[in-house]
Amino acid sequence: QAEISRIRNISKVQFGKFDLYPWYFSPYPEVFTQEDLMYICEFCLCYYGDFKSFTRHRQKCTLQHPPGNEIYRDDYVSFFEIDGRRQRTWCRNLCLLSKMFLDHKTLYYDVDPFLFYVMTTRDEKGCHLIGYFSKEKESAEGYNVACILTLPQFQRKGYGRLLIQFSYELSKIEGKLGSPEKPLSDLGLLSYRQYWTENLVDILLKYNESEDRCSIEQLASLLAMTPLDVESTLQALKMQVYHKGEHKIVLPTHIIKRHEAMKEKLAKDKSKKKVINPEAIQWKPPV
Ligand code: COA
Ligand code: NA
Repeated sequence: QAEISRIRNISKVQFGKFDLYPWYFSPYPEVFTQEDLMYICEFCLCYYGDFKSFTRHRQKCTLQHPPGNEIYRDDYVSFFEIDGRRQRTWCRNLCLLSKMFLDHKTLYYDVDPFLFYVMTTRDEKGCHLIGYFSKEKESAEGYNVACILTLPQFQRKGYGRLLIQFSYELSKIEGKLGSPEKPLSDLGLLSYRQYWTENLVDILLKYNESEDRCSIEQLASLLAMTPLDVESTLQALKMQVYHKGEHKIVLPTHIIKRHEAMKEKLAKDKSKKKVINPEAIQWKPPV
């Protein structure tokens, strides 16, 4: 297979009520990318090179939400589970769309081995795509996320946190420890680091109040994280010390302060104060 060019091939995309400005190359067929503007139907994710054929499509398209089961709903968002094998075209279209914002190679064609967890907002017109993550049906490496994306118009609003939390809630239901597929992008790493730190510090603060000691393994199982991810987070924060022949977890004051400041900021910014309520997830691990 020829090396895929990394040069951005699409300048602007009309998607629902938003314009998207792609960051990277995405292998849409060339005939669709030659105009200044490409059109993507926000519900079926089909793409069009000209306004006329797009308008004709919109008059016929009846889809109003992702083509799968709604497995979660709260006041803010819904999650749908979509099987790559059953909804091949839709999932391929989702991968093409997300490649516009992902640098490294991702799948576009062989979607059969994946499930897609798609997060939407609801209004009277339907369920609008905010972001998603994909997950291998069976991951030999124990990955609980393959690709993860928040559409650019929704980034930095706390939706990435929700996607990541949801992926770990599914792992908890499965009774497994999960980790995102490597390598992570820069933005992926920043978001995971933030999520891991927040949650680890939350638990350690509770342990701090009691006299109980807490091990890496306990932290891992409470959060459905791998011990390796727990350790790498603690190490990055310099929270693991070797003392008198023993590894110990410490919680420095500056980290507690930063954690409290972050909580305060989130409490003020209501738009970001979103969390997944695990009890509202209606999902059993696929057999
Ligand atoms: N700069 C600095 N920190 C960032 C950041 C950025 N551009 N984006 C995320 N973070 C960190 C912050 O700590 C942020 O918390 P804060 O906003 O309260 O400071 C935290 O991550 C969570 O941010 P959130 O708003 O929940 O994430 P998001 O909705 O923007 O989604 C990604 C994060 C990674 C899904 C999104 O950036 C994305 O889709 N990127 C392109 C695709 C990609 O690289 N995916 C990962 C592939 S492995
Ligand atoms: Na991938």
